[in-house]
Amino acid sequence: MTAVVARAPAKVNVHLGVGPLRPDGFHELRTVYLAVSLFDSVTAAPGDGLALTVTGEGTGGRGADLVPTDSRNLVWRAAELLAASAGVPAHATLAVDKAIPAAAGLAGGSADAAAALVALDALWGTRASREDLLGLAAQLGSDVPFSLVGGVALGAGRGEQVTPVLSRGRWDWVLGIAGEGLSTPAVYGELDRLRDAGRLPTDWSADAEPVLAALRSGPPSALAAALANDLQAPALALRPALGRALRAATEAGAASALVSGSGPTVAALCRDEQHAQRLAAELAGEGVFRTVRAVHGPVPGARVTR
Ligand code: C5P
Repeated sequence: MTAVVARAPAKVNVHLGVGPLRPDGFHELRTVYLAVSLFDSVTAAPGDGLALTVTGEGTGGRGADLVPTDSRNLVWRAAELLAASAGVPAHATLAVDKAIPAAAGLAGGSADAAAALVALDALWGTRASREDLLGLAAQLGSDVPFSLVGGVALGAGRGEQVTPVLSRGRWDWVLGIAGEGLSTPAVYGELDRLRDAGRLPTDWSADAEPVLAALRSGPPSALAAALANDLQAPALALRPALGRALRAATEAGAASALVSGSGPTVAALCRDEQHAQRLAAELAGEGVFRTVRAVHGPVPGARVTR
């Protein structure tokens, strides 16, 4: 068997409602995921034992300092988990090419894990069912099942229970990555702190229905009005410069802008592709963002490309 290449997309949470902290250390979520056209790819080739390399723009030029290449990497854990569940030896040489910036709130690590699962399933001929892969994905991380499914989906539980939802048309965005990565547990921790201090409501602040209705039939202005993220306030508290980044996006003409997931990426919704291209060029020239990308969604989840 020769090498198998799989790719998986980044995501933006167009609605992210965070409930109270659960006894298991996770928060109950009601989220709407949208997969967007920024992809990491994983090449899986035959090997002796496991070996992993990570390259690409998403490592921010800091390679293994930012993205580990051992069992701390979700790709490594995905390989071990699939091998154990299928009863095959975990032998593969894995190469991750990251376009999705790490620790940016775009589920880049989850995309890598999902791409690794489908690439290794093909390389090893393990023929895991969709349900099996979703079960393994949920063990790897809250966002990994969505990275497998892609498109638009409602996420429940800690985010791992995904149900595809109907969406018409195409949504154009500019993703602006502001500053260094933010730690997801730190942002959830700050949310708990602000809630305990009575500075934020203790349960989700908005309903997902307006976003779902806008995705079914609305113009971008309807989606723009419905975007909501309960992690935005704690991300802003930890990284005040994000406020300036959000303002830069709306002042430059975005229909609306929000923090993606736990940040620090700003996702700016645009009217159409031309608008996104123009906005990306303008924001790239302003120096508020380290990286600026025009993307669109929905796009499919993890799949073998060759
Ligand atoms: O599932 P994942 O490994 O991506 O979660 C990373 C961390 O983010 C968790 O350890 C937890 O601190 C936080 N988290 C949470 N509630 C969720 C998802 C993640 O508190 N629903």
